[in-house]
Amino acid sequence: MSGESCFVLLGPIHLHRLMEIERSSFANPWSEADFCYLLADRDALCLGLLHSGELIGYALGYFADRDFHLANLAVDPACRNRGWGGKLLRRILRLAAERGASRCALEVRSANRAARVLYRKAGFRAVGRRVAYYTDPPDAAVLMERNIEIL
Ligand SMILES: CC(C)(COP(=O)(O)OP(=O)(O)OC[C@H]1O[C@@H](n2cnc3c(N)ncnc32)[C@H](O)[C@@H]1OP(=O)(O)O)[C@@H](O)C(=O)NCCC(=O)NCCS
Repeated sequence: MSGESCFVLLGPIHLHRLMEIERSSFANPWSEADFCYLLADRDALCLGLLHSGELIGYALGYFADRDFHLANLAVDPACRNRGWGGKLLRRILRLAAERGASRCALEVRSANRAARVLYRKAGFRAVGRRVAYYTDPPDAAVLMERNIEIL
């Protein structure tokens, strides 16, 4: 993919593209209200990736004491498997560490192979499992975490 890419902190102006990518990425997408809640939360970190001026991916999470919880990560289906997801993940972890978090935690669908591989390659390890955590389709959640103090 040619063109310039850069990271941005997300705001309400990105809502339309966020929803487009979200709806094409998840069977149970977040609502606009879900995004608005996190975008307005001072304890959240909402990072976007622009390519040639267009939003192609995002990573959102929130702080709870010294933990950073990665709540959402997605890349436009047309732009996947080119390293953008990994770049977004590494950047949000670094920003979270710079803001004082020492650990990142997340939940991922057991059947979501792409995301589980991505997280494992980024240094996350599975630390637990919640049975029947997701619906439509039903699935277990794998709980993953990694130390981010030294990033
Ligand atoms: C998960 C997701 C963000 C990955 O984004 P991406 O830009 O395609 O990821 P990358 O190209 O950076 O790939 C990162 C690593 O994951 C692995 N990976 C990516 N897609 C994969 C797939 N379908 N199967 C197996 N491994 C995969 C790659 O091997 C890659 O490692 P490498 O760079 O060493 O080859 C993207 O697939 C997505 O948006 N999925 C839908 C939303 C989602 O499931 N989000 C996660 C919620 S927990």
